[in-house]
Amino acid sequence: MCGIVGYVGERPALDVVVEGLARLEYRGYDSAGVAVLADGALATAKRAGKLVNLREALAEQTLPAGTLGMGHTRWATHGAPNDRNAHPHTDCGGNVAVIHNGIIENFAALRAELEEGGHKLRSDTDTEAVAHMLEDELASTGDLAEAMRKVCRRLEGAFTLVAVHAGDDDLVVGARRNSPLVVGVGDGENFLASDVAAFIAHTRDAIELGQDQVVELRKAGVTVTDLEGRPAETKAYHVDWDVSAAEKGGYDYFMLKEIAEQPRAVADTLLGRIGADGRLTLDEMRISDRELREVDKIIIVACGTSYHAGLIAKYAIEHWAGLPCEVELASEFRYRDPILSRTTLVIAISQSGETMDALMAVRHAREQHAKLLGICNVNGSTLPRECDGVLYTHAGPEIAVASTKAFLTQLVAVYLIALYIAQVRGTKFGDEVFAMIQLLAQMPEKVDEVLGTMEPVRELARSLAGEKSVLFLGRHVGFPVALEGALKLKELAYMHAEGFAAGELKHGPIALIEPGLPVIVVVPPRSRDVLHDKIVSNIQEIRARGARTIVIAEEGDTSVEPYADTLIGVPAVPTLFQPLVTTVPLQVFACELATAKGHDVDQPRNLAKSVTVE
Ligand code: F6R
Repeated sequence: MCGIVGYVGERPALDVVVEGLARLEYRGYDSAGVAVLADGALATAKRAGKLVNLREALAEQTLPAGTLGMGHTRWATHGAPNDRNAHPHTDCGGNVAVIHNGIIENFAALRAELEEGGHKLRSDTDTEAVAHMLEDELASTGDLAEAMRKVCRRLEGAFTLVAVHAGDDDLVVGARRNSPLVVGVGDGENFLASDVAAFIAHTRDAIELGQDQVVELRKAGVTVTDLEGRPAETKAYHVDWDVSAAEKGGYDYFMLKEIAEQPRAVADTLLGRIGADGRLTLDEMRISDRELREVDKIIIVACGTSYHAGLIAKYAIEHWAGLPCEVELASEFRYRDPILSRTTLVIAISQSGETMDALMAVRHAREQHAKLLGICNVNGSTLPRECDGVLYTHAGPEIAVASTKAFLTQLVAVYLIALYIAQVRGTKFGDEVFAMIQLLAQMPEKVDEVLGTMEPVRELARSLAGEKSVLFLGRHVGFPVALEGALKLKELAYMHAEGFAAGELKHGPIALIEPGLPVIVVVPPRSRDVLHDKIVSNIQEIRARGARTIVIAEEGDTSVEPYADTLIGVPAVPTLFQPLVTTVPLQVFACELATAKGHDVDQPRNLAKSVTVE
């Protein structure tokens, strides 16, 4: 949510900032704005809607050619997404400009206090209060960084704030609490952004900022302090992907590129984790084998698609690692009283590592002394810092809002963890674990095979673009796959879609079946006789009631042919790995159907890539 860019250097700031905002568009937003400082004068421009509207505004209203500036894409929380509420917000005199991501929870009290003190607030946002508070603090300190520290000490909630002041054209100040902000370190120029994509075209050297830290960005360097003004510890890192990874590379949409990248992404998640002796080594896990042997319960917390990866993880962990495993929506977890102890391992799955609900769940678990393991894609994000250990998925940047390659690589990460625990705890014979690892290593090829056979799926999707509703059914690990297929269709095609456990059908959902209703059924491998036979019966039941059956089954599974109006074949793989091959057709289906309806699949309406507020 909300994209933030700050720049100070030698180039025209407006160009750098608008280009950075364009690279952050994927985060989801409904208005955009910029501020530029030149010769002691601060100028801003902002517009509701997409960047194209801001660009039009900039064509009408020429901003000065300063070399210091900042920009913002806003995902509305407080106040409608209109020009007035768009960021930047300024103080009474127009000398301080502020952009913000997050929610300032005590803003109503702060606003009342400011108004009582004579400030005139012009928007409905929580952000504007900060501009006026900085105005007051600047009047006494004259130092923007010190003013920011003082203001932050009074704020409650989650925020990334970036501010500039007309009195200093070599200073951008940023601060963060529970919301992302990274520094890009250049040569004679420096950057601030919500994520590295905004400045990757200029530098791959970044600094991770910690909680409650304030950064002063000048052309010549970067200083980071805590809220008391003491020098703070930071972590510098080099981004391991380049600008081409953040571009579409000839595809019409990032989503298409990311779907196509899945074999490579899956291979990269496995890279370096299978030793020459066929045993797993998970170096960054930082939870010792002794601690893993003591674990007596695993709880997985995640949101959305990552939650679906967690649901699949449960099957793998219980089967291989022999440990009880619960999976919980992160947004619900902290509002219950989950029973955790020092021997509970909590695994948080988050592509972005910035999802507020996931971070809050991790903190809730930390308070109860559980061990914490993160599965994350974004290096430098908050989640890995808050966990004892991490397994990076190495999927590369995922720009499309709907998660695709992140999901498949999360699955590989949870398989690795489950097999690693089995290896450490000896819950499966060594040769069984070894055999599974060998099969897992073949998955990039299997995913590639699926991608090569997707034309009939695209055709099917186009033919169903006029439907109102699609149902998805699965059993065992096919159930979370059904949930994921339905989520993809909802978010991209804005269509009613629901996933069900096929066994639940007769307990209610079968009433939804009417003639012609498309129902997509994920069939388990034939080797799982009981499961397989049960789902074939379910297909017959819905077909008898007129449903149009679209069946995803192992190639050569002739038993389903008589009941399938459309049959989509996927390569035969072990049951627990089947989601890697059955999810791909569902991603392609949703993407093609949404495109046929004329939707922008990279930026679905109302959605943000990383949900940084609760
Ligand atoms: C759906 C989707 C979302 C995310 C969810 C969690 O396609 O992308 O449901 O999976 O917002 O995001 P992360 O994994 O970044 O915590």
